[in-house]
Amino acid sequence: MTDVLPIPVIAIDGPSASGKGTVAALVAQALGFHYLDSGAIYRVAAYAAQRGEVSLEDEAALAELALHLQLRFTGGEVILDGEPVGDAIRSEAAGRAASRIAALPALRLALLERQRAFRLAPGLVADGRDMGSVVFPDARLKVFLTASAEERAQRRYKQLIEKGLDANLAPLLQDLRERDARDVARSAAPLQQTADAVLLDTTGLNIQQAVQQVLVWYSQASKTV
Ligand code: DC
Repeated sequence: MTDVLPIPVIAIDGPSASGKGTVAALVAQALGFHYLDSGAIYRVAAYAAQRGEVSLEDEAALAELALHLQLRFTGGEVILDGEPVGDAIRSEAAGRAASRIAALPALRLALLERQRAFRLAPGLVADGRDMGSVVFPDARLKVFLTASAEERAQRRYKQLIEKGLDANLAPLLQDLRERDARDVARSAAPLQQTADAVLLDTTGLNIQQAVQQVLVWYSQASKTV
């Protein structure tokens, strides 16, 4: 009998604005793998709830809404009910709303299979908070990608300024710290580095260096499969 290897997954978890999305997308591109931005799913769920006037505290109603979300990703765009949502889910307010509903276990459960459905050949790179701990516990490589809160606030500040948006460093740092605290302290799938995840601290690293490191680790992990 021959063993069939499961479709490989690289799980990249970490706090807000750590650069994990950029690194994950580039790693996926380098390997020809699919890419899952799980945070976008939480962001869209919060956006759909606010649009449909569902309270961000109503766990049962949010779970119901999450189960029936008409959601697709095409070429980096998030499509909800056939319409691109654009930057509406990328604001700080949208991130805060996503972080609030992400603390609700029924909502998380409702989104679980939807995320697992992204595991398609030849492989998947998934980024979020619980990719390695809950969604893909058998991932071939688990990376916990982080950077100091100050550096993350600086990066977010630069991004907003480059987009021509108004930005202020102090409130951004404060917001990041609050979001970190909420994501870490919640009881449902908290943000954590699991024992089997490797730590990648990108403070002082550029994107290419971070991508390269993940590719090296992935190639090492693939040799031992
Ligand atoms: O990665 P992001 O900033 O786009 O995620 C937005 C929020 O969604 C984040 O503050 C916490 C939540 N989230 C989560 O709880 N689990 C995930 N796998 C991804 C995101």
